[in-house]
Amino acid sequence: MSKKDIAKAAAIIKHGGLVAFPTETVYGIGADALNSRAVARIFKAKRRPYFDPLIVHIGNIESLKNLVEDIPKSAEQLIKKFWPGPLTIVFKKKSIIPDIVTAGFNTVAIRMPNHPMALELIRLSKCPIAAPSANPFGRLSPTQASHVKRYLYKEVDLILDGGKCQRGLESTIIDVSQNKVRILREGALPREEIEEYLGKKISKPVKFIGTTPGSLLKHYAPQTKLILLRKNEEFVKPQKGFGYLIFGKIEPHLMGCKDIESLSLKSDLVEAAANLFACLHRLDQAGLDVIYVKPIPNVGLGVAIMDRLTKSANTFK
Ligand code: TXA
Ligand code: MG
Repeated sequence: MSKKDIAKAAAIIKHGGLVAFPTETVYGIGADALNSRAVARIFKAKRRPYFDPLIVHIGNIESLKNLVEDIPKSAEQLIKKFWPGPLTIVFKKKSIIPDIVTAGFNTVAIRMPNHPMALELIRLSKCPIAAPSANPFGRLSPTQASHVKRYLYKEVDLILDGGKCQRGLESTIIDVSQNKVRILREGALPREEIEEYLGKKISKPVKFIGTTPGSLLKHYAPQTKLILLRKNEEFVKPQKGFGYLIFGKIEPHLMGCKDIESLSLKSDLVEAAANLFACLHRLDQAGLDVIYVKPIPNVGLGVAIMDRLTKSANTFK
Protein backbone atom coordinates (compact mmCIF):
# COMPACT_ATOMS: atom_id res chain seq x y z
CA MET A 1 0.00 0.00 0.00
CA SER A 2 1.36 3.38 -0.97
CA LYS A 3 1.08 6.95 0.24
CA LYS A 4 -1.47 7.40 -2.54
CA ASP A 5 -3.75 4.78 -0.99
CA ILE A 6 -3.59 6.52 2.37
CA ALA A 7 -4.39 9.87 0.70
CA LYS A 8 -7.37 8.23 -1.01
CA ALA A 9 -8.50 6.79 2.31
CA ALA A 10 -8.21 10.22 3.95
CA ALA A 11 -10.34 11.77 1.20
CA ILE A 12 -12.98 9.10 1.87
CA ILE A 13 -12.97 9.91 5.61
CA LYS A 14 -13.28 13.63 4.88
CA HIS A 15 -16.31 12.95 2.73
CA GLY A 16 -18.09 10.95 5.40
CA GLY A 17 -17.03 7.49 4.22
CA LEU A 18 -15.76 4.40 6.04
CA VAL A 19 -12.19 3.14 5.92
CA ALA A 20 -10.81 0.00 7.54
CA PHE A 21 -7.25 0.55 8.67
CA PRO A 22 -4.52 -1.24 10.60
CA THR A 23 -3.38 -0.33 14.08
CA GLU A 24 -0.81 -2.09 16.23
CA THR A 25 -3.63 -3.80 18.17
CA VAL A 26 -6.38 -4.86 15.71
CA TYR A 27 -7.87 -3.42 12.51
CA GLY A 28 -10.40 -0.63 13.00
CA ILE A 29 -13.34 0.55 10.91
CA GLY A 30 -13.10 4.32 10.97
CA ALA A 31 -15.05 7.46 10.19
CA ASP A 32 -14.73 11.18 10.93
CA ALA A 33 -15.44 11.30 14.67
CA LEU A 34 -17.02 14.75 14.37
CA ASN A 35 -19.49 13.70 11.66
CA SER A 36 -22.54 11.99 13.21
CA ARG A 37 -23.85 10.62 9.93
CA ALA A 38 -20.52 9.04 9.06
CA VAL A 39 -20.29 7.53 12.54
CA ALA A 40 -23.83 6.16 12.21
CA ARG A 41 -22.60 4.14 9.21
CA ILE A 42 -20.07 2.38 11.46
CA PHE A 43 -22.85 1.13 13.75
CA LYS A 44 -24.83 -0.07 10.75
CA ALA A 45 -21.85 -1.80 9.13
CA LYS A 46 -20.97 -3.64 12.34
CA ARG A 47 -24.57 -4.23 13.42
CA ARG A 48 -23.40 -2.71 16.66
CA PRO A 49 -25.92 -1.55 19.27
CA TYR A 50 -26.00 2.21 19.73
CA PHE A 51 -25.42 1.85 23.47
CA ASP A 52 -21.82 0.79 22.81
CA PRO A 53 -19.53 3.85 22.57
CA LEU A 54 -16.59 4.11 20.17
CA ILE A 55 -12.91 4.89 20.68
CA VAL A 56 -11.70 8.13 19.09
CA HIS A 57 -8.24 7.91 17.52
CA ILE A 58 -5.98 10.94 17.38
CA GLY A 59 -2.75 11.55 15.51
CA ASN A 60 -0.98 13.84 17.96
CA ILE A 61 -1.19 14.62 21.64
CA GLU A 62 -1.93 18.32 21.07
CA SER A 63 -5.34 17.58 19.56
CA LEU A 64 -6.48 15.92 22.81
CA LYS A 65 -7.29 19.23 24.51
CA ASN A 66 -9.83 20.09 21.79
CA LEU A 67 -11.80 16.95 22.61
CA VAL A 68 -11.77 16.61 26.40
CA GLU A 69 -12.75 18.82 29.31
CA ASP A 70 -9.93 17.99 31.60
CA ILE A 71 -6.62 16.11 31.47
CA PRO A 72 -5.95 14.83 35.00
CA LYS A 73 -2.33 14.48 36.17
CA SER A 74 -2.49 10.69 36.10
CA ALA A 75 -3.58 10.81 32.45
CA GLU A 76 -0.78 13.21 31.60
CA GLN A 77 1.69 10.73 33.08
CA LEU A 78 0.18 7.77 31.23
CA ILE A 79 0.15 9.65 27.94
CA LYS A 80 3.78 10.64 28.29
CA LYS A 81 4.80 7.04 28.78
CA PHE A 82 2.37 5.00 26.69
CA TRP A 83 1.21 7.12 23.71
CA PRO A 84 1.33 6.37 20.90
CA GLY A 85 0.45 2.84 21.97
CA PRO A 86 -2.18 0.30 23.02
CA LEU A 87 -3.68 2.34 25.85
CA THR A 88 -7.12 3.97 25.57
CA ILE A 89 -8.01 6.61 28.15
CA VAL A 90 -11.56 7.65 29.07
CA PHE A 91 -11.95 11.39 29.76
CA LYS A 92 -14.82 13.81 30.37
CA LYS A 93 -15.79 14.88 26.87
CA LYS A 94 -16.22 18.26 25.24
CA SER A 95 -19.49 18.91 23.41
CA ILE A 96 -17.72 18.89 20.03
CA ILE A 97 -17.84 15.07 20.22
CA PRO A 98 -21.23 13.94 18.90
CA ASP A 99 -23.39 11.91 21.26
CA ILE A 100 -23.53 8.98 18.86
CA VAL A 101 -19.78 8.44 19.33
CA THR A 102 -20.08 8.16 23.10
CA ALA A 103 -23.51 6.50 23.25
CA GLY A 104 -24.76 9.51 25.15
CA PHE A 105 -22.17 9.22 27.92
CA ASN A 106 -20.46 12.41 29.06
CA THR A 107 -17.10 10.67 28.67
CA VAL A 108 -15.06 9.81 25.60
CA ALA A 109 -12.47 7.07 25.07
CA ILE A 110 -9.36 8.27 23.23
CA ARG A 111 -6.19 6.67 22.01
CA MET A 112 -3.23 7.48 19.79
CA PRO A 113 -2.39 4.32 17.86
CA ASN A 114 1.22 3.33 17.26
CA HIS A 115 1.03 2.46 13.58
CA PRO A 116 2.48 4.63 10.80
CA MET A 117 -0.44 3.99 8.46
CA ALA A 118 -3.04 4.86 11.08
CA LEU A 119 -1.18 8.00 12.11
CA GLU A 120 -0.75 9.14 8.51
CA LEU A 121 -4.43 8.48 7.82
CA ILE A 122 -5.49 10.62 10.78
CA ARG A 123 -3.02 13.37 9.82
CA LEU A 124 -4.23 13.55 6.21
CA SER A 125 -7.90 13.32 7.21
CA LYS A 126 -7.41 16.35 9.47
CA CYS A 127 -9.96 15.01 11.96
CA PRO A 128 -10.08 12.55 14.83
CA ILE A 129 -11.22 9.11 13.67
CA ALA A 130 -13.84 7.11 15.56
CA ALA A 131 -13.07 3.44 15.11
CA PRO A 132 -14.21 0.23 16.74
CA SER A 133 -12.58 -3.06 15.77
CA ALA A 134 -13.48 -3.98 12.17
CA ASN A 135 -15.61 -7.03 12.92
CA PRO A 136 -19.36 -7.59 13.11
CA PHE A 137 -20.53 -7.02 16.69
CA GLY A 138 -19.55 -9.84 19.05
CA ARG A 139 -17.35 -11.68 16.57
CA LEU A 140 -13.59 -12.32 16.52
CA SER A 141 -11.47 -9.20 16.11
CA PRO A 142 -9.53 -8.81 12.84
CA THR A 143 -5.74 -8.78 12.96
CA GLN A 144 -5.16 -9.00 9.19
CA ALA A 145 -6.69 -7.20 6.21
CA SER A 146 -8.04 -10.53 4.95
CA HIS A 147 -10.14 -10.89 8.12
CA VAL A 148 -11.71 -7.47 7.49
CA LYS A 149 -12.30 -8.30 3.86
CA ARG A 150 -14.16 -11.47 4.75
CA TYR A 151 -16.32 -9.65 7.30
CA LEU A 152 -17.01 -6.19 5.93
CA TYR A 153 -15.93 -6.03 2.28
CA LYS A 154 -19.28 -4.64 1.14
CA GLU A 155 -19.72 -2.24 4.02
CA VAL A 156 -16.48 -0.26 3.88
CA ASP A 157 -15.35 2.11 1.15
CA LEU A 158 -11.71 1.07 1.38
CA ILE A 159 -9.49 -1.33 3.30
CA LEU A 160 -5.93 -0.22 3.99
CA ASP A 161 -3.69 -3.27 4.21
CA GLY A 162 -0.90 -2.85 6.73
CA GLY A 163 -0.13 -6.55 7.16
CA LYS A 164 -0.49 -8.36 10.47
CA CYS A 165 -1.16 -6.35 13.61
CA GLN A 166 1.90 -6.51 15.77
CA ARG A 167 0.10 -6.73 19.16
CA GLY A 168 -2.99 -8.68 18.13
CA LEU A 169 -5.11 -7.74 21.15
CA GLU A 170 -7.29 -4.66 21.65
CA SER A 171 -5.98 -1.74 23.67
CA THR A 172 -6.20 -1.66 27.45
CA ILE A 173 -8.86 0.86 28.54
CA ILE A 174 -8.30 3.08 31.57
CA ASP A 175 -10.88 5.49 32.99
CA VAL A 176 -9.58 8.74 34.49
CA SER A 177 -12.87 10.64 34.21
CA GLN A 178 -13.73 10.03 37.86
CA ASN A 179 -11.30 10.86 40.59
CA LYS A 180 -9.47 7.59 40.53
CA VAL A 181 -7.75 5.55 37.83
CA ARG A 182 -9.78 2.48 36.92
CA ILE A 183 -9.16 -0.23 34.35
CA LEU A 184 -12.22 -0.97 32.18
CA ARG A 185 -10.79 -3.52 29.77
CA GLU A 186 -7.68 -5.65 30.03
CA GLY A 187 -5.76 -5.49 26.79
CA ALA A 188 -2.47 -5.25 24.94
CA LEU A 189 -0.81 -3.18 27.64
CA PRO A 190 -0.57 -5.41 30.73
CA ARG A 191 -1.96 -3.93 33.94
CA GLU A 192 1.31 -4.72 35.76
CA GLU A 193 3.21 -2.36 33.45
CA ILE A 194 0.81 0.48 34.18
CA GLU A 195 0.87 -0.17 37.93
CA GLU A 196 4.64 -0.37 37.99
CA TYR A 197 4.90 2.92 36.17
CA LEU A 198 2.31 4.74 38.30
CA GLY A 199 3.71 3.18 41.45
CA LYS A 200 0.25 2.14 42.66
CA LYS A 201 -2.38 -0.54 42.20
CA ILE A 202 -5.32 0.21 39.93
CA SER A 203 -8.71 -1.33 40.51
CA LYS A 204 -9.65 -4.34 38.42
CA PRO A 205 -12.43 -4.26 35.86
CA VAL A 206 -15.76 -5.14 37.35
CA LYS A 207 -17.13 -8.40 35.96
CA PHE A 208 -19.97 -6.81 34.06
CA ILE A 209 -20.74 -3.23 33.15
CA GLY A 210 -24.03 -3.40 31.30
CA THR A 211 -23.23 -0.51 29.03
CA THR A 212 -19.64 -1.36 28.17
CA PRO A 213 -19.75 -4.29 25.79
CA GLY A 214 -16.00 -4.86 25.95
CA SER A 215 -16.96 -6.02 29.39
CA LEU A 216 -19.98 -8.06 28.31
CA LEU A 217 -19.66 -11.66 29.41
CA LYS A 218 -20.10 -12.90 25.83
CA HIS A 219 -18.00 -11.35 23.08
CA TYR A 220 -15.08 -11.94 20.70
CA ALA A 221 -16.57 -15.26 19.61
CA PRO A 222 -15.88 -17.60 16.71
CA GLN A 223 -18.95 -19.17 15.12
CA THR A 224 -17.70 -22.63 16.00
CA LYS A 225 -18.46 -23.77 19.55
CA LEU A 226 -15.47 -23.07 21.78
CA ILE A 227 -14.89 -24.99 25.00
CA LEU A 228 -12.39 -23.64 27.50
CA LEU A 229 -11.20 -26.50 29.71
CA ARG A 230 -10.69 -26.15 33.43
CA LYS A 231 -7.21 -25.95 34.88
CA ASN A 232 -5.53 -29.41 34.75
CA GLU A 233 -8.36 -30.83 32.64
CA GLU A 234 -6.98 -32.90 29.73
CA PHE A 235 -7.92 -32.61 26.07
CA VAL A 236 -10.35 -35.24 24.83
CA LYS A 237 -9.00 -37.73 22.28
CA PRO A 238 -8.88 -36.24 18.77
CA GLN A 239 -11.69 -37.18 16.45
CA LYS A 240 -13.19 -35.76 13.29
CA GLY A 241 -14.65 -32.32 13.87
CA PHE A 242 -12.46 -31.52 16.90
CA GLY A 243 -9.97 -28.65 16.79
CA TYR A 244 -7.45 -27.55 19.41
CA LEU A 245 -5.96 -24.24 20.39
CA ILE A 246 -2.89 -24.74 22.53
CA PHE A 247 -0.19 -22.72 24.22
CA GLY A 248 3.29 -24.24 23.98
CA LYS A 249 4.43 -27.49 22.40
CA ILE A 250 1.97 -29.85 20.77
CA GLU A 251 1.18 -32.69 23.16
CA PRO A 252 2.19 -36.15 21.85
CA HIS A 253 -1.35 -37.53 21.73
CA LEU A 254 -2.45 -34.59 19.53
CA MET A 255 0.42 -34.97 17.05
CA GLY A 256 -0.84 -35.59 13.56
CA CYS A 257 -4.16 -33.90 14.27
CA LYS A 258 -4.57 -31.35 11.49
CA ASP A 259 -6.83 -28.82 13.14
CA ILE A 260 -4.48 -27.69 15.82
CA GLU A 261 -2.99 -24.25 16.35
CA SER A 262 -0.36 -23.26 18.88
CA LEU A 263 -0.49 -19.68 20.07
CA SER A 264 3.22 -19.90 20.75
CA LEU A 265 5.34 -23.05 20.53
CA LYS A 266 7.85 -21.48 22.89
CA SER A 267 5.14 -20.46 25.40
CA ASP A 268 5.74 -16.75 24.92
CA LEU A 269 2.76 -14.58 25.91
CA VAL A 270 3.65 -11.70 23.57
CA GLU A 271 3.71 -14.08 20.62
CA ALA A 272 0.52 -15.75 21.86
CA ALA A 273 -1.33 -12.41 22.00
CA ALA A 274 -0.22 -11.53 18.48
CA ASN A 275 -1.43 -14.93 17.18
CA LEU A 276 -4.66 -15.29 19.19
CA PHE A 277 -7.26 -13.98 16.76
CA ALA A 278 -5.49 -15.30 13.63
CA CYS A 279 -5.42 -18.82 15.14
CA LEU A 280 -9.10 -18.57 16.10
CA HIS A 281 -10.03 -17.27 12.64
CA ARG A 282 -8.25 -20.27 11.03
CA LEU A 283 -9.90 -22.82 13.32
CA ASP A 284 -13.26 -21.11 12.82
CA GLN A 285 -12.87 -21.47 9.05
CA ALA A 286 -12.00 -25.17 9.24
CA GLY A 287 -15.58 -26.42 9.45
CA LEU A 288 -15.15 -27.97 12.91
CA ASP A 289 -17.84 -28.94 15.41
CA VAL A 290 -15.90 -27.75 18.42
CA ILE A 291 -12.66 -25.98 19.34
CA TYR A 292 -11.03 -27.06 22.62
CA VAL A 293 -8.77 -24.65 24.48
CA LYS A 294 -6.78 -25.09 27.69
CA PRO A 295 -6.39 -22.13 30.02
CA ILE A 296 -3.15 -20.21 29.65
CA PRO A 297 -1.16 -18.58 32.47
CA ASN A 298 -3.26 -15.76 33.92
CA VAL A 299 -0.44 -13.22 34.29
CA GLY A 300 0.75 -10.27 32.22
CA LEU A 301 -0.73 -10.44 28.72
CA GLY A 302 -2.22 -13.80 29.67
CA VAL A 303 -4.94 -11.93 31.60
CA ALA A 304 -6.26 -10.23 28.45
CA ILE A 305 -5.93 -13.44 26.41
CA MET A 306 -7.91 -15.38 29.03
CA ASP A 307 -10.52 -12.60 29.09
CA ARG A 308 -11.07 -13.00 25.32
CA LEU A 309 -11.14 -16.82 25.53
CA THR A 310 -13.57 -16.83 28.46
CA LYS A 311 -15.94 -14.51 26.62
CA SER A 312 -15.68 -16.61 23.45
CA ALA A 313 -16.53 -19.74 25.45
CA ASN A 314 -19.40 -18.05 27.29
CA THR A 315 -21.10 -17.34 23.99
CA PHE A 316 -21.85 -21.06 23.67
CA LYS A 317 -23.08 -21.69 27.20
O1 TXA B 1 -7.32 -1.59 20.19
C1 TXA B 1 -8.43 -1.06 20.17
O2 TXA B 1 -8.89 -0.47 21.15
C2 TXA B 1 -9.22 -1.15 18.86
C3 TXA B 1 -8.47 -0.39 17.78
C4 TXA B 1 -9.23 -0.32 16.47
O3 TXA B 1 -8.15 0.89 18.24
N1 TXA B 1 -10.55 -0.67 19.05
C5 TXA B 1 -11.49 -1.35 19.75
O4 TXA B 1 -12.73 -0.75 19.71
O5 TXA B 1 -11.26 -2.37 20.34
P1 TXA B 1 -14.07 -1.50 20.17
O6 TXA B 1 -15.17 -0.58 19.79
O7 TXA B 1 -14.10 -2.85 19.59
O8 TXA B 1 -13.97 -1.53 21.71
C6 TXA B 1 -14.04 -0.31 22.40
C7 TXA B 1 -14.50 -0.50 23.79
C8 TXA B 1 -15.95 -0.92 23.88
O9 TXA B 1 -16.06 -1.99 24.79
C9 TXA B 1 -16.64 0.30 24.44
O10 TXA B 1 -17.75 -0.03 25.21
C10 TXA B 1 -15.54 0.95 25.25
O11 TXA B 1 -14.39 0.74 24.46
N2 TXA B 1 -15.74 2.39 25.37
C11 TXA B 1 -15.74 3.32 24.41
N3 TXA B 1 -16.02 4.54 24.89
C12 TXA B 1 -16.19 4.38 26.22
C13 TXA B 1 -16.52 5.27 27.29
N4 TXA B 1 -16.73 6.56 27.10
N5 TXA B 1 -16.63 4.75 28.53
C14 TXA B 1 -16.42 3.43 28.73
N6 TXA B 1 -16.11 2.53 27.77
C15 TXA B 1 -16.01 3.01 26.53
MG1 MG C 1 -14.37 -4.80 19.34
